[in-house]
Amino acid sequence: MDAPEKKDWLLDERLLQSQKLAAIGELSAGIAHEINNPLAIIRQEAEWMQLLLKKLGGGDGKELAELQGSVRQIVQQVDRCTEITRNLLDFARKRDPVIQAVEVNRAIENMTMLVEKEARHNNITIVRHYDQDLPVIFSDAPQLRQVILNFLTNATYAIGKDGVITITTRLAGDDAVDIVISDTGCGIPEAHLSKIFDPFFTTKPPGRGTGLGLSICHGIILRLGGRITVASQVGRGTEFTITLPRRRESELFAND
Ligand SMILES: Nc1ncnc2c1ncn2[C@@H]1O[C@H](COP(=O)(O)OP(=O)(O)OP(=O)(O)O)[C@@H](O)[C@H]1O
Ligand SMILES: [Mg+2]
Repeated sequence: MDAPEKKDWLLDERLLQSQKLAAIGELSAGIAHEINNPLAIIRQEAEWMQLLLKKLGGGDGKELAELQGSVRQIVQQVDRCTEITRNLLDFARKRDPVIQAVEVNRAIENMTMLVEKEARHNNITIVRHYDQDLPVIFSDAPQLRQVILNFLTNATYAIGKDGVITITTRLAGDDAVDIVISDTGCGIPEAHLSKIFDPFFTTKPPGRGTGLGLSICHGIILRLGGRITVASQVGRGTEFTITLPRRRESELFAND
């Protein structure tokens, strides 16, 4: 009796989650779109002020410097708002996947190379356990790369300094592929585990994170027919497993 109940509950939860995501997505996209135009104007005006200030140079040094500092702040904060709206639009865009042959190891490696320099700078080692015999899968490479980058960025942040990120790829049965990204970072408290995929959930200090990274990943992976699972221990680290359907070329046209 227990098992079916649990399954139903899980399905309901998922449905609720996806409805919630859809509603928030639409709302966010509307707001983000509206805010982008005034932001662009504020930025333009601030840049203009910077130019004028440069021209005026030579006046009262202290006040001028203060003014320049303030305008610089305006530009920085506008850029941050723009980043937030870009994330919101990304989150809401829900672009239909473009399914093509993807070499998973290569897609991962492209992103790993992006974060490796900064990782090394913080004494974070990235260990690859790529299954060299992994078959090509049929998926959306750009979206997959976006997801991988999000996970690597989160892992790097969770470690801060000195640690290891391990990336593993492997076949999961006949029809799926696993990408496992584990880190030796701070870990996730149990009470947070059910919230980390919620839009806007973040433990970063104010002004640092939008809390949209994982919800974007969640949406993308769902649309690619996959799933994400997480295991974590506070103080020891976190392991995310992305399972993607392998899909063979012959199956592509059989599905809707
Ligand atoms: N590898 C990880 N280790 C520890 N905590 C994590 C990890 N990945 C995610 N989290 C937790 O999940 C939260 C949500 O992550 P998410 O990527 O959605 O947003 P964020 O990283 O906080 O902000 P943003 O992605 O916009 O910079 C994080 O704030 C953190 O608490
Ligand atoms: Mg993030």
